[in-house]
Amino acid sequence: MSQDSIQHDNEGPASPAVLPPDPSRRFWLGTACAVGGVAGVATAVPFVASMSPSDRAKAAGAPVEVNLSSIAPGTMLTVEWQGKPVWILRRTQAMIDGLAGQNDHLADPNSDRPGFTPEFAKSTERSRKPEWLVCVGICTHLGCSPSPRFAVGGIEGMASDWEGGFLCPCHGSIFDLAGRVFKNQPAPDNLEVPPYYFIDDNNIMVGLESAA
Ligand code: FES
Repeated sequence: MSQDSIQHDNEGPASPAVLPPDPSRRFWLGTACAVGGVAGVATAVPFVASMSPSDRAKAAGAPVEVNLSSIAPGTMLTVEWQGKPVWILRRTQAMIDGLAGQNDHLADPNSDRPGFTPEFAKSTERSRKPEWLVCVGICTHLGCSPSPRFAVGGIEGMASDWEGGFLCPCHGSIFDLAGRVFKNQPAPDNLEVPPYYFIDDNNIMVGLESAA
């Protein structure tokens, strides 16, 4: 299994202060996730170097199998797929319940806009199973990686019925726990849901919609 990952704990609310663009934040591999990738790079280089250019291209786009058993309810794991961070959040029942009341605050609550949500994820939870959110952790504004803000409660400038979500550090876009962007944010669209499927109850394959 290829799984360079970072586990995130629950974080408290923070102000969505509008920060100046910071190019160093735009590429997740250049910041925090680079730490988690060190071991993988060290062992992968000889193997990758031995590949032909076409094989390397295939590996870069290869699906990634992820074991879910270490992800506690209310926390998430970040893995790399096609050079992008993919979040895997194990939602609690309270997190799932909180999604239903967000619609009035959201720009595209039903994920009708094309290009970011596959058919299987066109639901309130935007996932194959309500407990699991799988989405690309790259802001649809200018490509920063949002941070988890899972604690329930008011965030400055947002509704007091905040049910947890994600905050982009670059220009303050806010997303709910299904990756749906709130209204009047710099980000124009919901976070991307990648193709994936459940191999079994404890394992998913990111990068393919089915085994066949
Ligand atoms: S990159 Fe601008 S709000 Fe996220």
